[in-house]
Amino acid sequence: MSTQFDVIVIGAGPGGYIAAIRSAQLGFTVACIDEWKNSNGGPAPGGTCTNVGCIPSKALLQSSENFDQAGHHFADHGINIKGLDIDVGKMLARKDQVVKQNNDGILFLFKKNKVTFFHGRASFAAKSDAGYELKISGAAEETVAGKHIIVATGSNARALPGAPFDEESILSNDGALRIQGVPKRLGLIGSGVIGLEMGSVWRRLGSAVTVLEALPTFLGAVDEQIAKEAHKAFTRQGLKIELDVKVGAIKSGKKGVSVAWTNAKGEAQTLEVDKLIVSIGRVPNTIGLNPDAVGLKLDERGAILVDDECKTNLPDVWAVGDVVRGPMLAHKAEEEGVAVAERIAGQHGHVNFNTIPWVIYTSPEIAWVGQTEQQLQAAGVKYKAGTFPFMANGRARAMGDTIGMVKFLADAATDEILGVHIVGPMASELISEAVVAMEFRASAEDIARICHAHPSLSEATKEAALAVDKRTLNF
Ligand code: FAD
Ligand code: NAI
Repeated sequence: MSTQFDVIVIGAGPGGYIAAIRSAQLGFTVACIDEWKNSNGGPAPGGTCTNVGCIPSKALLQSSENFDQAGHHFADHGINIKGLDIDVGKMLARKDQVVKQNNDGILFLFKKNKVTFFHGRASFAAKSDAGYELKISGAAEETVAGKHIIVATGSNARALPGAPFDEESILSNDGALRIQGVPKRLGLIGSGVIGLEMGSVWRRLGSAVTVLEALPTFLGAVDEQIAKEAHKAFTRQGLKIELDVKVGAIKSGKKGVSVAWTNAKGEAQTLEVDKLIVSIGRVPNTIGLNPDAVGLKLDERGAILVDDECKTNLPDVWAVGDVVRGPMLAHKAEEEGVAVAERIAGQHGHVNFNTIPWVIYTSPEIAWVGQTEQQLQAAGVKYKAGTFPFMANGRARAMGDTIGMVKFLADAATDEILGVHIVGPMASELISEAVVAMEFRASAEDIARICHAHPSLSEATKEAALAVDKRTLNF
């Protein structure tokens, strides 16, 4: 006889563990099954985000930014440091500690919310009268049954054909987060989010970084004006970004990795590096889930097919996060997890896909919400644009961090905010105001009339809103 739960969540990444906690808050009996192991073989809930994604990458971005500041910017403040060096081992140990705190935090939250946690791999076994039977293999070996199943099995890094990850020389995000010393020459394939964040970490620590990108445009999904400003900043910092390239054969040997590639002019080139990070996107993960046992449908990319409400083709089986359509972002996965738990409880869970913010944690940071100028043009929407440079913001000057701008896009007739785009200091935090404003369908004038603390970076947001109506006060 298998143990019966109202809700079983497969995967304890941000989609899964949040769905489990919200389900428990709503009064259901809940189990969450996750197979991730820490270095001792113990459970490490938190998924990609906690173990090899958001959290460790931000820990290394912080450490490397501190090093960069101490090496290149403290002197501007009259702080002189002699003999600055980096202990990579200590930096990595600190990052591991940050990850562990998050793993432990989730285990604590499960206990607090009475979520039963199983450490192992779940696979669909059968449909039964009680709902669905799942087989757990790993540290926990048993069969459990759930009336509702929420699949939150996440995604894996996509490898280049002919160049599998060995995590020694050819690295996915996993290996990229535990390089044991600063590589002299680092190559990256793909100038997307991971490419830019990981490239920044190792460039700041002293690597010569070359990024090879297939597309002719830099950060194609980002508003063009913002992407141009970011490109200028990254190039000035020393990131070598090659666009419009075709990557050919990749050979990995004792001396490093050799990448044959063709540049935009069609000329054959070779890139010799000590380590190569391949960051060309991620693929939905259903390995070991055995969806065929119950007839769970996947799409042609291997993602679980869901409707707008995260319902799969099977009654009472739901799927959220990276394993379904939509942006592969932790906060999107969390929002879907909450919404599904609430729908199971008969409530009206809701995710607004128009107001999901994006952040790239480089320096300067890049953050945006809503439509880009190019998307509005393509859709034939009449809009007004306003920008304000951080150069004209008092707090940014005091911080010595004046690169970048805030850009507002508002409907030409109604003034409703349609998109906000930021490149500059603390863009990751500043974007929240824009998300709130767009959720409440605010106009640019609404933001322009709100009192913002002085001196603060957020005054640049207010000024960009004023710029929509061509009436900035400080520029
Ligand atoms: P995951 O976090 O991938 O979790 C899935 C979990 O399911 C895993 O623990 C896995 O072990 C488990 N699992 C899978 N199959 C089974 C099974 N059959 N049985 C049991 N367990 C199973 N997003 C952001 O929003 N901000 C960021 O700053 C950010 N930085 C990132 C940096 C990097 C380097 C990477 C790679 C990603 C980053 N992301 C970021 C993306 C973010 O990590 C993902 O969008 C997020 O983790 C998706 O959450 P999820 O719950 O859908 O899946
Ligand atoms: P990505 O989709 O952001 O970027 C991949 C890049 O690789 C694209 O620019 C693409 O054109 C390029 N590319 C694809 N095939 C190529 C090839 N054969 N040769 C050269 N270039 C090629 O994917 P990435 O960086 O791997 O990250 C995966 C996802 O993880 C992101 O899309 C995002 O959802 C998530 N993530 C989010 C972060 C954040 O929110 N700050 C940080 C890191 C990852």
